[in-house]
Amino acid sequence: MAVRNVVKKDEELIRKKSKPVKNFDDDLGELLDDMWETMYAFDGMGLAAVQVGILRRAIIIDVNGLKAELINPEIIYKEGEAVEEEGCLSVSGFHGRVKRPYKIKVKAFDRYGYPFTIEGESWLARCICHECDHLDGILFTDKLEKKGK
Ligand code: NI
Repeated sequence: MAVRNVVKKDEELIRKKSKPVKNFDDDLGELLDDMWETMYAFDGMGLAAVQVGILRRAIIIDVNGLKAELINPEIIYKEGEAVEEEGCLSVSGFHGRVKRPYKIKVKAFDRYGYPFTIEGESWLARCICHECDHLDGILFTDKLEKKGK
């Protein structure tokens, strides 16, 4: 396992769309292991593969101790909305308020290719939405709430 460099907001790569994972093999396992190590090294609560320079649809999250690896995640249900302040390991030293669904349901695969579905509320939903945005080249700074809203 290794801590990898985190791609920052001004690098072109962070804006690229990630491709679906096709091979659930050892390389994917290694990527995910490195992502965990990298995320914890920088105190993150979520990380997308593109943030370590790999354009594949894989994210990890650790929200209040709930840890998950989501490969080819797809948000299949959204409910409600909430505005909270977010940050991102690719956007150093800046936080901003973003509106997200309060509750979501997401379909994904684990590192071995088995499908599963999870439901999340509040910060869990927020974190998954934030990381899924990364897979489409979207940063939270694209979605900031205007003042007074
Ligand atoms: Ni981020």
